[in-house]
Amino acid sequence: MRTLLIAGNWKMNLLRSSAVELAQALANRFAQPPEGIELLVCPPFPYLIPVHEVIAGSAVQLGAQTSYFEPPGAFTGEVANEMLVDVGCRYVIQGHSERRHVLGESDTVVNRKVRASLQRGLRVILCVGERLEERQAGQTEQVLDRQLETGLREIDAAAAGNVVVAYEPVWAIGTGVVATEQQAQSAHAHIRNWLASRYNPEFARAARILYGGSVKPQNAEGLLAQPDVDGALVGGASLKADSFCGIVDAAVRARASAG
Ligand code: PGA
Repeated sequence: MRTLLIAGNWKMNLLRSSAVELAQALANRFAQPPEGIELLVCPPFPYLIPVHEVIAGSAVQLGAQTSYFEPPGAFTGEVANEMLVDVGCRYVIQGHSERRHVLGESDTVVNRKVRASLQRGLRVILCVGERLEERQAGQTEQVLDRQLETGLREIDAAAAGNVVVAYEPVWAIGTGVVATEQQAQSAHAHIRNWLASRYNPEFARAARILYGGSVKPQNAEGLLAQPDVDGALVGGASLKADSFCGIVDAAVRARASAG
């Protein structure tokens, strides 16, 4: 059975005291990982170090929300993968829809970022997902295929083993409109089939595919019980210890019922 990953994407939220307080609450609760579940928080850059200090030694791992594809150098305002590794990051999110649609990152830029992060030894959460108008036009699978094809260009199976794909329909992010369990399962199954043909069936069976978009403690169990949903990338509900823990509890129940 695949290990579930429950990841909190804090986005551009919290200040140092609230970030440290939240991280401390999670570290206290998860000194050990729940069986078969991996936990991750992705704070804003300035809080990576203080958050790392309080989660060190707990089951909660550290990730960043993006990074630049160049090694350290003259790139004002950017953060290099080397720096993320240096401050204790295990993971980095790339291709989040806000980076694509608000900050203008193309599929090609996302691919350069994914490759650079993998080369520096980080695990990558590669986000893909269609916009509402694309879903309504019946283009969901085409959009996913394009984002996967370019996002994973020139990445072989050995490197891609450190990629977790996150299916995040743009219309479900921060809107309170969650994908139905069937919509999520069908997109995830499509992504897994795509991975099987791009790499191989064994690779696809081992690959983890997260769902993201308005995941809450109330809807998490049903989503996580879907056969191809291997975890959640959580925005809003990751900003409070209670709701993040509620989602982890739902993951524990979903795993238990999957036997
Ligand atoms: P949300 O965000 O849970 O607030 O919808 C998810 C994400 O953007 O990763």
